[in-house]
Amino acid sequence: MADPAACSTRAVPAPERLCEPAALQDSGRAFVFDVLERGRPARAFVLRWRGAVVAYLNRCAHVPAEMDWQEGQFLDAERRFIVCSIHGASYEPADGRCAGGPCGRGRLVALTVREEADGVYWYPSDTIQPVTFDAPAAGTPA
Ligand code: FES
Repeated sequence: MADPAACSTRAVPAPERLCEPAALQDSGRAFVFDVLERGRPARAFVLRWRGAVVAYLNRCAHVPAEMDWQEGQFLDAERRFIVCSIHGASYEPADGRCAGGPCGRGRLVALTVREEADGVYWYPSDTIQPVTFDAPAAGTPA
């Protein structure tokens, strides 16, 4: 009989606390943070939309570019859609689907976030992980 403990070899990173719940106003400015997507630096954002928190990679489905026109500003003037500042692609804030413009059938890459009483937490995945800073080993020249 196989040992079930032998099946799991990958450590699941702990949830990352991103910000205070009150820092995210409904349809307001997003909190932007750094991640590693498949080991490469990327940015992501968490936004409060109709009371819930949603998070996506800050990467347009049209061209892989960051979308905010100022840091954390993703919504259009009516505060209805996430809009890319480069060519105007619009996305549904609730699920990241393209709602118009050059994103076609594309959609934003979603991250799992949850709101708790003490903070908004991001749950890393196999492909989107926290940025880690390796401390230099003792005796290593700076
Ligand atoms: S890069 Fe976002 S619409 Fe073109």
